[in-house]
Amino acid sequence: MKNTLLVLGLMALLTSLQTGCYYDNEEDLYGSSGGGTCDTTAVSFSADVQPIINTNCVSCHAPGGQQESVPLTTYQEIKTYADNGKLIERTNNSSLPMPPTGLMVECNRDFLKAWVNAGAPNN
Ligand code: HEC
Repeated sequence: MKNTLLVLGLMALLTSLQTGCYYDNEEDLYGSSGGGTCDTTAVSFSADVQPIINTNCVSCHAPGGQQESVPLTTYQEIKTYADNGKLIERTNNSSLPMPPTGLMVECNRDFLKAWVNAGAPNN
C-alpha cells in the first residue's frame, strides 16, 4: 500500500514537471518571432520574416548549403519565392515540407502568410 502511494506520487510529480516544462517554453509553442505572441497584424520583413528564414532555412538555402541554387538570404531572393507562391506552398505542404524535417510551428507559418498577403513588403 505504501509503495503504491509512493509510485502514484512520483508519477504525479513527473507529469506535472513535464507539463510545466512544455507550457513554459514559449519559443516551442509560438516560434521565435513576435515576442512570443502570434500577432501578425503588423508583420515586418526584417523583424518577423527574415529571422524565421534565417533560423529555419538558410542552413541549406545559401551559398555552400545543400540547396544553394535556391538562395533565401536577401529580401530580393525571398521575395522571388513569395511572388511565385513556392514559399507559402512548401512551408505548408506536409508531404513535401520545408524545412524537410517537418513543418514549422503554426505561428511561423502564419507570419509568412501574413507577409505575403500584405504584398511581401520590404519593411
Ligand atoms: C536541410 C536543408 C533544407 C532546409 C533547412 C530547407 N530547405 Fe528548402 N529545399 C531543400 C532542398 C534539398 C530542396 C530541393 C528539393 C525539393 O524541392 O524538395 C528545397 C527546395 C525548396 C523550395 C522549392 C524551390 C523550387 O524552385 O521549387 C522552396 C520554396 C524551399 N525549399 C523553401 C524553404 C524554406 C522557406 C525553408 C525554411 C522554412 C527551407 N526551404 C528549409 C533543402 C532545405
